[in-house]
Amino acid sequence: MQLIIPSISNLPQAAQAIIEHAANNRIFLFYGDMGAGKTTLIKQLCKALGTADNITSPTFSIVNEYHAAKDKIYHFDFYRLKDQTEALDMGYEEYFYAGAYCFIEWPEKIPDLLPAHYSNISIQVLDDGSRQVNVENI
Ligand SMILES: Nc1ncnc2c1ncn2[C@@H]1O[C@H](COP(=O)(O)OP(=O)(O)OP(=O)(O)O)[C@@H](O)[C@H]1O
Ligand SMILES: [Mg+2]
Repeated sequence: MQLIIPSISNLPQAAQAIIEHAANNRIFLFYGDMGAGKTTLIKQLCKALGTADNITSPTFSIVNEYHAAKDKIYHFDFYRLKDQTEALDMGYEEYFYAGAYCFIEWPEKIPDLLPAHYSNISIQVLDDGSRQVNVENI
């Protein structure tokens, strides 16, 4: 599925479509350059799932945990990871395989630890500033 998101105001609708497209997938990998809009989209996805928590980039903590009505949400940012063993050390498996929603920024940093199934989200900034988002279930 491909979406064009012209501006921030179109994000709620896009988030809903992405969650529906993912069906039973609960793990989402976000690819895109710095500033492409990964964190911004994750915020909307969390809102769409019904969390009232404040969503901030977990740059220093690697993972943030949020709560929605029925679901737990783990939000990862692996940008600062120096080595995949750091993900092993922080117990990534307990999060990935807990049945919770996992939103993962910079999955490029953990190429050997990716789960078998996930929704692959790639974000590109177009010339006019709109975002092209491709969603593929793997
Ligand atoms: N769909 C959109 N339309 C217009 N602007 C957007 C959109 N999505 C995000 N932005 C803007 O892009 C900027 C960067 O977004 P964000 O922090 O989400 O990027 P990121 O991909 O998470 O970057 P990083 O790799 O540094 O974590 C923000 O100022 C945000 O308002
Ligand atoms: Mg980010």
